[in-house]
Amino acid sequence: MNQDQMKQAAGEKALDFIKPDTIVGVGTGSTVNYFIDALATMKDSIKGAVSSSEQSTERLKAHGIEVFDLNHVDSLDVYVDGADEITPHMAMIKGGGAALTREKIVAAVAKEFICIADSSKQVDLLGTFPLPVEVIPMARSYVARELVKLGGDPVYRQGVVTDNGNVILDVHNLSITDPKQLENQINAIVGVVTNGLFAERAADKLILGTENGAQVIEN
Ligand code: 5RP
Repeated sequence: MNQDQMKQAAGEKALDFIKPDTIVGVGTGSTVNYFIDALATMKDSIKGAVSSSEQSTERLKAHGIEVFDLNHVDSLDVYVDGADEITPHMAMIKGGGAALTREKIVAAVAKEFICIADSSKQVDLLGTFPLPVEVIPMARSYVARELVKLGGDPVYRQGVVTDNGNVILDVHNLSITDPKQLENQINAIVGVVTNGLFAERAADKLILGTENGAQVIEN
């Protein structure tokens, strides 16, 4: 299997965990796109979805899946999303697609976070993938200087504006030995909206696309 086939296998396997008559939390990215396409095959048995990005909303609607405003939804059983890196403790780096803030909000509401990923995303230590940080535009240079003090090398993601109207700094060369501590430390910098560490709210389940198909790993 190539990487795309592994992503597809993981996305399709996630259907096993979708209950009828529920609203499904939907993440963002190429792996999630396979999940959305699979979800369309059971669209008549779910109520609809809450989406973490304009990109996923567009794809869900194109399939005829109703997309609800999160403010009108009291609870979500399941949130399905991809990751850029994931550890054995199910802490993640996310935000390669710049949707990290809405992803973190929907994940916070959901009872269960199911991560879908191909096997290249498994790591022992987070940080080889540059950590995305969403920043209020006027704070970009200040936040970059503060990130340098933490030992990182922030790079402005040119030409990208998030769905919330903000910018992204990708922080290279961080050695992330304590993901929860770093997540909170970066979030405390004035001007940071959120960062792509998902350690305080890690995944509950990983569906990993491998050479031998999709494997389900519980946290
Ligand atoms: C988007 C994300 C994605 O989940 C992450 O970038 C993984 O993407 P892909 O499934 O395309 O590899 O966090 O903000």
